[in-house]
Amino acid sequence: MSLGKLIDNTTNDLSKRIDKQKVPEHVAIIMDGNGRWATKKGLPRKYGHKRGVSVLKAILKASKKLGCKVLTVYAFSTENWKRPPKEVDFLINLFSEVLKNEIDEIHQESIKIKFIGDISPFPETLKQIISSSESLTKNNHKFLLNVCVNYGGRQEIVKVAKELALKSSSGEINPSEVNEELFNSELLTQGIKDPELLIRTSGEKRISNFLLWQLAYSEIYISDVLWPDFNEFEFLKAIIDYQSRNRRFGGIELLPNESYKDSQYSS
Ligand code: FPP
Repeated sequence: MSLGKLIDNTTNDLSKRIDKQKVPEHVAIIMDGNGRWATKKGLPRKYGHKRGVSVLKAILKASKKLGCKVLTVYAFSTENWKRPPKEVDFLINLFSEVLKNEIDEIHQESIKIKFIGDISPFPETLKQIISSSESLTKNNHKFLLNVCVNYGGRQEIVKVAKELALKSSSGEINPSEVNEELFNSELLTQGIKDPELLIRTSGEKRISNFLLWQLAYSEIYISDVLWPDFNEFEFLKAIIDYQSRNRRFGGIELLPNESYKDSQYSS
């Protein structure tokens, strides 16, 4: 049996273990490890990013096939400007190239694409491609792909605080009306359900300023695999792990036949 066939069979076996009723609607991903992957192979870092794009395409397909509805990926953080200018330029050009090459297929697949973050510092060409991609796909409803670019969770929270302070000072809202719902309505992800699952590749155990508000109750899955080696098989492993979690949202789980009255705190 060929290696490809073997991998297909193993992926199929894994997908049979998935409970279709408990598939996360929204998965967020920190695609980490592109540079290390390339360096380990003795290649310039850009090859890791290039390969990372193919992996993103595969995971987009796999998540849609599985029944997820939203995928949010961290493509460029507010901190990524600290990288050497050549790498920043490469990434910016890569975003433009990928969008130009893939947008028709994304549209045919009825995927809506949305960019989250402050795109104002990007070159005009990229801003135009982003804007035309968003407007072309704005009425697609099968799946939502959020691409976070020049995004930072703290910056987003500060932005919301500013908006609410302005609305308070102009009398549009009363400060006592500020609550989670109102705060949510000013987020860049406004109207999008919070991710149930966050996947981070390359073994790093950090959130790195990603969706700080939205990840409050998300399950976190760390994969040791570097992003360019991530694939459908690894994605399904993350989903199966997620499905084994007991999501209590700060509450407690009582045993069958047990009630709060019976629990150890009742007198
Ligand atoms: C992290 O690896 C990866 C990035 C900063 C870029 C990710 C971007 C893509 C995969 C392209 C996506 C394209 C579109 C249009 C959405 P790293 O460079 O931090 O790796 P390292 O930690 O090993 O150095």
